[in-house]
Amino acid sequence: MSGASPNPSSEEDVPGPVGRGNSGGWRGPESAVEWERRLLSRAVLMQGRRCRPRCGTLGGMAIRILGINGGIRPGGTAERALRFTLRALEAEGARCETFEIGALPILDGRADDQYPAAVAAWRAACTAADGFVLVVPSYHGGAPGSLKNALDFIDLPHAAGKPFAVIGIAGGDAEPGVTDVTRVMRHIGGIAGVPDVVISRAGEHWGSGDDPANKSVAFAIAKVSDDLVALCTLRADGKLPQP
Ligand SMILES: Cc1cc2nc3c(=O)[nH]c(=O)nc-3n(C[C@H](O)[C@H](O)[C@H](O)COP(=O)(O)O)c2cc1C
Repeated sequence: MSGASPNPSSEEDVPGPVGRGNSGGWRGPESAVEWERRLLSRAVLMQGRRCRPRCGTLGGMAIRILGINGGIRPGGTAERALRFTLRALEAEGARCETFEIGALPILDGRADDQYPAAVAAWRAACTAADGFVLVVPSYHGGAPGSLKNALDFIDLPHAAGKPFAVIGIAGGDAEPGVTDVTRVMRHIGGIAGVPDVVISRAGEHWGSGDDPANKSVAFAIAKVSDDLVALCTLRADGKLPQP
């Protein structure tokens, strides 16, 4: 592994921090004032104050979101982006869990009962989830092989009809990993119903902290978290197409 982190030769080479590409990026439908109000209320919720979730529960049962880190570096931007996103989801009333895909072996065609217990645990975690959030770095112009390997272990019974969100993050262009993973998730029946968050030039737009350096990235993640929980609530209520 070279560990290369290609940097763009100029700002024009890569998409902007959120949305798809420089021109078609998602921008929130609400006014700046409304965004500020929502950000403030989330900040309060994320400080652990008591809250009454807006839509993250159905009949008293919390929406369960499985967070998947496609990165390999402990404490890296991908891990920090996942933690930030899970906090935003929990502020919406979701119950979040994670699964370390690094515990999985390489899929090699052996019989299911020949794999270590991690494979059954991964499938069980996916089955139990109402929805998924995947944080995806770009490796060599695509999604990391370890993430594709993990997704190859699951299929329609684990993912079909379930909404998912993808947060791409890369030192250069984060779009390739997002595109790859979205295609795979849709192939196994996942519902792509929320905008992607594409954080290119992560050193600049996320930085070294736990929270993103660029406020618009925080807005985008808050909005996507809100939408994902709303979609999962609709699904739990039987209002999304069944697989
Ligand atoms: C094997 C490998 C290949 C990579 N290839 C790319 C790439 O093609 N484009 C890019 O922007 N970043 C690339 N990177 C950098 C990652 O996308 C970057 O590490 C990502 O922001 C995740 O950061 P983290 O390690 O801080 O979590 C690569 C990293 C590795 C380890």
